Amino acid sequence: MTLRGFRPVDVPFISSVVADALHEHYDPTLYQSLSTEWPDGFLVAADSQDVPVGFLLGVSQVEREARILMFAVDRGHRTVGVGTLLMTAFLERCRARGYHRVTLEVRVSNATAIRFYTRFSYSVLDLLRAYYSDGENGYQMARELG
Ligand SMILES: CC(C)(COP(=O)(O)OP(=O)(O)OC[C@H]1O[C@@H](n2cnc3c(N)ncnc32)[C@H](O)[C@@H]1OP(=O)(O)O)[C@@H](O)C(=O)NCCC(=O)NCCS
Repeated sequence: MTLRGFRPVDVPFISSVVADALHEHYDPTLYQSLSTEWPDGFLVAADSQDVPVGFLLGVSQVEREARILMFAVDRGHRTVGVGTLLMTAFLERCRARGYHRVTLEVRVSNATAIRFYTRFSYSVLDLLRAYYSDGENGYQMARELG
């Protein structure tokens, strides 16, 4: 497994994993535009044939803070460490930029992701009522960077 930056050719994979895993459908041009401000914050994990299997898209909208906007691994490649690889590299990049905090939002029903984030020292900051378009509540989670 290798980690690399986002490329426009990754959009079909990302759109399909976002639809399947996150139940969201975004305009394909969104990914390119989100990647321009902080290209290193958009990480893609790819197999030995350079086929993408997961990605993590982070942005920085608040000074010295990163926010994870999207994070997903293809179903067939979960629980073998791809998410850990992506998150570990992302946190390193945040530290390299001098960020002191990372935030994210997660559905309250997404126990798998909440457990994953807890293992990475994120904790719940806030309950976001009806945060998702289908009315589900979210948690805002965050961790400090030492
Ligand atoms: C959350 C998500 C990105 C994690 O990705 P992943 O590649 O499965 O993550 P990992 O394989 O690194 O870790 C997952 C679990 O497998 C375990 N694991 C990792 N490598 C392992 C291995 N070689 N053998 C056995 N277990 C392993 C980890 O300990 C971890 O357990 P934990 O979460 O209970 O602590 C993935 O579940 C996903 O895409 N979910 C759907 C989208 C989603 O919910 N995204 C977050 C929205 S906020």
